[in-house]
Amino acid sequence: MQVKKAIIPAAGLGTRFLPATKAMPKEMLPIVDKPTIQYIVEEAIASGIEDIIIVTGKGKRAIEDHFDHAFELEDTLLKKGKTDMLDSVLETSNVEIHYIRQKEPLGLGHAIWSARRFIGNEPFAVLLGDDIVENEDPCLAQLMRQNELTGKSVIGVQQVPEEETHRYGIIDPVSIDGKLIKVDKFVEKPEAGTAPSNYAIMGRYILTPEIFEFLGQHQLGAGGEIQLTDAIQKLNEVQSVYAYEFEGRRFDVGEKFGFIETTIEFALKRPELRDRLLKLFEEKLKESYIEEK
Ligand code: G1P
Repeated sequence: MQVKKAIIPAAGLGTRFLPATKAMPKEMLPIVDKPTIQYIVEEAIASGIEDIIIVTGKGKRAIEDHFDHAFELEDTLLKKGKTDMLDSVLETSNVEIHYIRQKEPLGLGHAIWSARRFIGNEPFAVLLGDDIVENEDPCLAQLMRQNELTGKSVIGVQQVPEEETHRYGIIDPVSIDGKLIKVDKFVEKPEAGTAPSNYAIMGRYILTPEIFEFLGQHQLGAGGEIQLTDAIQKLNEVQSVYAYEFEGRRFDVGEKFGFIETTIEFALKRPELRDRLLKLFEEKLKESYIEEK
């Protein structure tokens, strides 16, 4: 069965970006001029997803407004003939996006569980907003194809340096067939030095609806939260869950350095910004070289 629905959890408090996120959802922080969540929505659309449900929390109204029509703005841009700008605000306003509120901040697993009625009894996608993946063949589309081939849940992974494994859900692989990996165990944020591999879960999932049985057990895991990874491990015990090492460059916009790096990389791709930015870097490098001397 083809995957048509996707869940994007966006209920987190965004504490890593305070005070910017005190009154504004972290998902609305822009990379150059586009909110991070729009990159995620665009990947879902490019992969063939038809319905998206965003799980929001308190103070997330700006996300709903962003994906809604803004008649006044659209009208003004149209009258002024600013068609480029008009196109940019209309890019995602015609997609079916639904919203549900997570009542309590009990973790990622709980956020996904909150959307169970919207999903019903079909396989579905999950995209996390902290990871932007850039690739011509969208990351989610790659996982969807593996799901069609295997009929099983497929979790997107990439390899990370050993010292970073404690920040991720990590898989314990049994056998690797090209990029498709049979998994023995899924472990959420293993303690330093205990990770069973360096394949990390990267915020893209295709899940069968049976996952809701395990999410519904509301078992607390790492950090005292209901973890999606723990439910995936339980699902794996009754029906195989595969991992897939997807192609594409992944940007971590969930923490400050990654966010700045992504902003720079994306800005360098823009012809109107590239030369000025490179000149600025050159000047800054010279300055710091002189200071060091
Ligand atoms: C979440 C998941 C984790 C995954 C990570 C990817 O963790 O729980 O398994 O590896 O996203 O970005 P978070 O970063 O929200 O703590």
